Amino acid sequence: HRGGRRSSRLLGFSPVPVAEGNGPWPAISSDYHYDVLIPWGEPLEPSGPAYQWPPTAADQARQIGIGHDGMWFFPIEDKGCRDDDDRAHWGRHKDIWRGGENRHGLLAINHEFGENMHVLGKAAPESLEDVRVSQHAHGVAVVEIQKKGRIWRAVESDNARRIHVNTPVAFSGPVAGHALLDTPNGNIPLGTVNNCSNGHTPWGTYLTCEENFNGYFGAAGSWSATDAQKRYGFSSNGFGYGWHLFDRRFDLSDEDYRNEEHRFGWVVEIDPFDATQTPVKRTALGRFKHEGVAITEGRGKRVVAYMGDDERFDYIYKFVSEDNWKKMRRAGKSPLDHGMLYVAKFNDDGTGEWLALTIDNPALAARFADQAEVLTYARMAADVLGATPMDRPEWTTVAPNGDVYCTLTNNSRRTVADAANPMAPNPDGHIIRWRDADKHVGTTFTWDIFLIAADTHGTEDSFASPDGIWADPDGRLFIQTDGGQKDGLNNQMLVADTMTGELRRIFTGVSGDEITGITVTPDRRTMFINMQHPGEGDPTVTNFPAELDGVTVPRDCTIVITRKNGGIIGS
Ligand code: FEO
Ligand code: CA
Ligand code: CA
Ligand code: CA
Repeated sequence: HRGGRRSSRLLGFSPVPVAEGNGPWPAISSDYHYDVLIPWGEPLEPSGPAYQWPPTAADQARQIGIGHDGMWFFPIEDKGCRDDDDRAHWGRHKDIWRGGENRHGLLAINHEFGENMHVLGKAAPESLEDVRVSQHAHGVAVVEIQKKGRIWRAVESDNARRIHVNTPVAFSGPVAGHALLDTPNGNIPLGTVNNCSNGHTPWGTYLTCEENFNGYFGAAGSWSATDAQKRYGFSSNGFGYGWHLFDRRFDLSDEDYRNEEHRFGWVVEIDPFDATQTPVKRTALGRFKHEGVAITEGRGKRVVAYMGDDERFDYIYKFVSEDNWKKMRRAGKSPLDHGMLYVAKFNDDGTGEWLALTIDNPALAARFADQAEVLTYARMAADVLGATPMDRPEWTTVAPNGDVYCTLTNNSRRTVADAANPMAPNPDGHIIRWRDADKHVGTTFTWDIFLIAADTHGTEDSFASPDGIWADPDGRLFIQTDGGQKDGLNNQMLVADTMTGELRRIFTGVSGDEITGITVTPDRRTMFINMQHPGEGDPTVTNFPAELDGVTVPRDCTIVITRKNGGIIGS
């Protein structure tokens, strides 16, 4: 699909040259401008505790978390300012004249992770207080932001809140109330962790996805993994966070907390406009290493969710609600609680099938006791059905013409190629695209490969390891990277023209970071993206954004992008 001719009418900006995208500081197209917003550790509201490093657990629970990742902007059309006749009132609220919803909103943002050296200044926790600092740095923030003059800032808010590893949560859907979610000591469900990518619903809520939850568990005593624990990657040391050494909830060897690990690996629904709402884990969407959840409206106004499971040789899923989502909500049912979960099989001839993960299938009934088990062990159920093992499915996005794109970030361990994963090994990744046979509710689809990253190497379009992806309403595809770039580049964001296949680099980050997370104001004149783990937390690599704020530890932060001529982002 990549045309050699530079003919795109969608991409009107000067790209960041390869030679400029490699330093300890970001680079942006000469037609664009960027600012830094809400670095890790800033108070959630201006009146909150000021940043200090390392933070205390109490402060961190009221500050922006670390590991900025998926996010969504929920505009606020300032209530009480809608009376067109009240000219005096309008005059006092100049924001409204300019479109207040483009200058004011709630940003719901994931805080995926921060390693102990970065967060605590030491490799391992030495106390429960240390563990709590780490736990409070993870999770989600809802922060109210407003543009004052040219600059966006966090403001005081009734809606601002932090959700972290110790926040009470609820379960809903087929697994709610099941014994698989009960622990012998009866502790209530708490927390969300490793919140990677995201989604948002037509009814105005935010969805956060629990990805590498396995890494926060460990075993302080004698423990051997069950088949299910092996399939989900649990190990006695986890990723080295050491939470299990001071918090029994994360100790796989503690019989009192048996099943605690089943409480993670879900998609979680958050109402950004109600700070008292308990986050809800929507179990109908299955339990796996959820990268993201791209929601669209399918035939019959059924809500459809496309989801990747980011692991080498894992799968792509979709969920379809059982009915028209508006009708379901009117009847008091969540469209995300009732429906069918499917997993993708990509045939080599460019066709594909959605395989239903249902206990009504005898092959699954032979292996699992009920639908709750099928969903809790969705990976193992998908194994039984013969889903296609993919090269690490990351984000998905639904384009306005119905095409769905999914980034397959890389898979250095692939030895046998197939048509959908054509590189073996595949260290640099590719992007796959499909079209559902029946407006997103079908059981078959057709697919093709949109881009192979290795094809760009040695050119000005060079990129590798695609991860974040977002299709805008005009046919642009924003592509963000996470992993070793070629040609000396830092991680970056490019814009593709989906008609011509042309690529253009709009932003590059700093050494050791990843670029992830993407959302825009309704007018698309402001875009928010995230810089995650700049310098991998090492101040000798970069201290970004220190020159801007006088703090020396590199900090994950949001990057606010505007076009110098006020145009739509990507144009
Ligand atoms: Fe958290 Fe697969 O990226
Ligand atoms: Ca990712
Ligand atoms: Ca990634
Ligand atoms: Ca990441």
